[in-house]
Amino acid sequence: MTALRRLVFCLALTCPTSAGANQIGVATRPPENVKILTELDPQALRGEMRRMSAALGVTCDHCHVDGNFASDEKPPKRSARWMLKMTRALNTREFPKYQIKDGESVLGRVTCFTCHRGAIEPPTAPPAP
Ligand code: HEC
Ligand code: HEC
Repeated sequence: MTALRRLVFCLALTCPTSAGANQIGVATRPPENVKILTELDPQALRGEMRRMSAALGVTCDHCHVDGNFASDEKPPKRSARWMLKMTRALNTREFPKYQIKDGESVLGRVTCFTCHRGAIEPPTAPPAP
């Protein structure tokens, strides 16, 4: 980020000190680097971010660098975008008729939690009997 962009960012958000700390800024500022969840308003995007965090058992800073949610610097954020694309594709292809209920993920029937179950690394096999 250039110095000017950083300054503008800080003015707009009163410079958050940690990812997730600036709740108001996050909920109201239009996103600048959203490629998959493009139909969501900032509030809905934030709800989806909370569900993603819970699905993996992590906090926002697992994927986001301090004070810059738009940055793609952290590898888990890039993985998460790949996962968003995969989950979207699965739902579109296999569960097109699923009716999303209030408070559920906007992704559809298959969500991050379906596989991850609260862990960064989803299990491959059931626990030994
Ligand atoms: C597992 C990784 C992951 C976690 C955890 C996560 N995010 Fe995100 N976040 C992403 C990805 C990926 C995108 C871009 C989505 C897209 O391209 O559609 C994003 C985008 C955003 C954006 C839009 C930034 C912009 O301007 O482009 C905001 C704001 C945001 N996240 C806030 C949060 C908050 C707040 C939390 C914690 C409650 C959080 N995120 C947790 C991966 C994550
Ligand atoms: C169909 C099952 C499935 C779904 C749904 C799914 N994941 Fe994953 N995810 C995986 C698997 C399997 C891996 C391990 C990939 C590997 O070994 O390279 C993984 C890996 C990841 C990683 C990388 C972990 C690391 O090592 O850094 C992130 C981050 C992640 N997933 C986020 C998400 C998010 C966010 C969602 C929802 C948008 C999601 N996943 C949905 C199966 C899934």
